Amino acid sequence: MKHLLKLGDLSSREITDILNLADQLKFEKYHGERKPYLGGKTLGMIFTKASTRTRVSFEVGMYQLGGNALFLSGSEMQIGRGEPAEDTARVLSKYLDGIMIRTYKQSEVEKLAEFSDIPVINGLTDYCHPCQVLADLMTIRERKGSFKGKKLTFIGDGNNMANSLIVGAVKTGMEIAVACPKGYEPDAEIIKWGTQNGKVTITDDVKAAAEGADVMYTDVWASMGQEGEAELRKEKFKGFCIDSELMKLAKKDAMVLHCLPAHRGEEITAEVLEAHADEIFAEAENRLHAQKAVMVTLMGGKK
Ligand code: CP
Ligand code: NVA
Repeated sequence: MKHLLKLGDLSSREITDILNLADQLKFEKYHGERKPYLGGKTLGMIFTKASTRTRVSFEVGMYQLGGNALFLSGSEMQIGRGEPAEDTARVLSKYLDGIMIRTYKQSEVEKLAEFSDIPVINGLTDYCHPCQVLADLMTIRERKGSFKGKKLTFIGDGNNMANSLIVGAVKTGMEIAVACPKGYEPDAEIIKWGTQNGKVTITDDVKAAAEGADVMYTDVWASMGQEGEAELRKEKFKGFCIDSELMKLAKKDAMVLHCLPAHRGEEITAEVLEAHADEIFAEAENRLHAQKAVMVTLMGGKK
């Protein structure tokens, strides 16, 4: 494993290894044995979209691993003025030990990786959000014990989160049901791969999707870059909301996860979010541990 560009590139074994290491690093953090696995190393973090969790968890994660992180705003770098990704990659490879990038196009992340001598980590594109789903998987395993026989239900837009959750569920052996309005389905290639390799259902029937779920998941109706469609989407996505009525169809002990930021009253009610705040904020915390595991794995730290 050289980069983390999308979860589809990882084997089930590689995902399990990252989750195991994440659990180990979380244990070490809380038991006073924090080790400088990436001492003296530097991660560059390129952002062309906003972030709270990704930026802070990567930066703090590098610090806790004995290294350093640089926040590189896309708009203040030459890449924002048209310098090609292939040149940026070759230059940054001379200074840094790893690059994390959050941007729009998956192809830009792939191009950066192609020309980079150092690991590239995808911190979200329009296509996928692998770091978030590693943290989600960590949280599910932590709270449910295993993935075996579990049903994950995603309600909402067939966006980057839905794409990565399908791949993550199939690779860990969970069933996944995605309920989205017609015309807002996840990526067609991912659906095809998912249905061939696992138990994947795509439907516009929210209730059928929620039936018997162990984990209920949702995300915003309008992602970063889709702000202009927000009003239209509010119409199209009416009913694609996790509320207490829908929760009655899931298992009694079902968890609720949300990658955040959340829009209360749209994809999730305030009531459900607050009732499951413990799970949702544990999920946010696990970004830190899962990403530390990714960085140690990719950036050559000792375990
Ligand atoms: N969930 C997530 O990626 O959050 P940020 O956009 O705040 O990084
Ligand atoms: N789908 C959302 C996820 C944010 C973490 C977005 O891309 O804006």
